[in-house]
Amino acid sequence: MKTGLRGMLPQSLRLFLRKIYYAPKDLIETVRGNRSGLIPPTRMIKSIGGGDFRKGGEEFLKLFIELGGLQRTSAVLDVGCGVGRMAIPLTSWLDATARYEGFDITPEEIRWCQKNITPKFPNFHFRHSDVYSHVYNPTAKTRASEYRFPFGDGEFDFVFLTSVFTHMLPADLENYLAEIARVLKPGGRSFITYFLLNDESRELLRQGRSTLDFKFQLEGCMTTDTEAPESALAYSEESVRSLNTRHGLNVGSRIWYGFWCGRSEFTSYQDIVVSTRI
Ligand SMILES: C[S@@+](CC[C@H](N)C(=O)[O-])C[C@H]1O[C@@H](n2cnc3c(N)ncnc32)[C@H](O)[C@@H]1O
Repeated sequence: MKTGLRGMLPQSLRLFLRKIYYAPKDLIETVRGNRSGLIPPTRMIKSIGGGDFRKGGEEFLKLFIELGGLQRTSAVLDVGCGVGRMAIPLTSWLDATARYEGFDITPEEIRWCQKNITPKFPNFHFRHSDVYSHVYNPTAKTRASEYRFPFGDGEFDFVFLTSVFTHMLPADLENYLAEIARVLKPGGRSFITYFLLNDESRELLRQGRSTLDFKFQLEGCMTTDTEAPESALAYSEESVRSLNTRHGLNVGSRIWYGFWCGRSEFTSYQDIVVSTRI
């Protein structure tokens, strides 16, 4: 049970208030010219959640290469790209001949990327997709369960989602997985982070060792918050494996598990699933 003002506010309003709170700091930094290089305003960084913005991007670039087989010449799609946390380190790693496309449902973050990243790196493109999310885009009409990605079949070598399926409900997630399979070339890879429920993570949750308490059962997943379920969602490893198979994505021999649930051996915070398009 959540208590206090924070617990009484809907998640979308909390996100909005967080942005208002950091707006004066952003304004002062802009006027002073403090923000050199590709560093987004603090209010946008804070809306992603915890962690060091730059380090998070660098950590994932390494994982995309080592676990996902990302190449310098790859055609890359970043689904739910936010304010470019992953795009920014990719600008200095991908060749100028490579292609990067990112889309997200939050217009302000996309505008920042279009204004600050694309002019310096013309092979990096960002689009706003007006898709509904109770937390991130509560006024949109289009459902994620019906959304068709704005790209043709087989256009990408590498599609990644970092901390996006951890905020998407089952019907939405399944449609996105089908879309990911559609836009990947045969042999192309998806790299997706999740909170996966398996014997180990369930036991750690039971012992109270997890950083997130997935205690509410929804149809097809677990949430930490029944009022705003998309705040954090966990899926059984079995269901994620079978969804991948259903959509022609072959999960590799290994899943890289995270420390979100209190594991002592881990690769990152969330669990990482890399699949190959059949
Ligand atoms: C925690 S943030 C992560 C942002 C970015 N992937 C990163 O790692 O920095 C979650 C992002 O998912 C986006 N998102 C949520 N639902 C989405 C959907 N249906 N389609 C695309 N993006 C979505 C949100 O707008 C938000 O930018």
